[in-house]
Amino acid sequence: MNKEILERIESVKQKALDALKTSKTSKELNDVRNIFLSKKGEVSSLMLLMKEIPNELKKEFGQAVNNLKTTIETSLNSKLKEAELEELNEKLKSEEIDITLPGVNKKQGHINPFLLIQDEMVDIFMKMGYEVKEGRDVELDHYNFELMNIPKNHPSRDMQDSFYINENTLLRTHTSPAQAHAMEEKKGQPIRIICPGKCYRRDDDDMTHSHQFGQIEGLVVDKNINIGHLKATLELFVKKMFGEKREIRLRSSYFPFTEPSVEVDVTCAECGGKGCAMCKGTGYIEILGGGMVHPNVLKMNGYDPEVYSGFAFGIGIERVAMLRYGIDDIRRIYQNDMRFVKQFERK
Ligand code: PHE
Repeated sequence: MNKEILERIESVKQKALDALKTSKTSKELNDVRNIFLSKKGEVSSLMLLMKEIPNELKKEFGQAVNNLKTTIETSLNSKLKEAELEELNEKLKSEEIDITLPGVNKKQGHINPFLLIQDEMVDIFMKMGYEVKEGRDVELDHYNFELMNIPKNHPSRDMQDSFYINENTLLRTHTSPAQAHAMEEKKGQPIRIICPGKCYRRDDDDMTHSHQFGQIEGLVVDKNINIGHLKATLELFVKKMFGEKREIRLRSSYFPFTEPSVEVDVTCAECGGKGCAMCKGTGYIEILGGGMVHPNVLKMNGYDPEVYSGFAFGIGIERVAMLRYGIDDIRRIYQNDMRFVKQFERK
């Protein structure tokens, strides 16, 4: 064969072998395959010379190019196998899990006494047939005050003046606006609901006060509802929550949205009603406010006070939790000290 052609073949071979020598990774080796062995690669290009080769030498030329192809292929494949094996080993090594390393300790949480008591309270009222309504923490002045018979400039606003978002919107100061929402929703039909949730007031936090606290609102509206129903309901609640021996006492009080209004006390757990340090000698501890729904409230919310009457109450959740568990400081309920929280279990 023509010397020049032989040199061309030899030079492609040299280039390929050099390239293989310097290629280490599977990626580099595959690049070499592309350059020399692909359809438009250097070896295929050699075949283009076929037309310049005299007929009697064509066969020899073809064989020479094919031999070259096989030589490159064989060497490339064996190098590639090695490279791939090495790369796999590297990968396995880098992903190795050291099972002797100490594990990550996950701290497990625990339900807070506030939620424990809220659940229990809701449960007691649900068993009495109450429907649970979720209120809203961000409330309109209209529902929080106006529809609860607390017009602008009413002195009782001072006590509750609070966290305003704008002139008409505030964080609710009690769960009572749930009454207005319920009456709006039930449109003159009988109502028996409770609404548990958070309330917010501008208050200096101390052992018994918090600017954020929980209440459960209760509202019953129907024909012929009287204060005896309120008393019996709360009595049942207290006995279920604190035990059969506990008694309640209603004291006359004032709320703009109930008439008459009452403050409800429960006999002291410490002394059973005789009077001690815990109850400041009175034998009783105050737990909630309530009363008969004010005729103005019924009227403003679409119920005819000549036909319907109702009672409402608002129970402080922390207050109940503190009495039930003997917690001395309301702030403990929020501090999330696990040593404290873990003491309380579901009944
Ligand atoms: N909303 C009153 C308060 O927060 C409690 C209450 C509710 C009183 C319903 C009467 C009736 O103090």
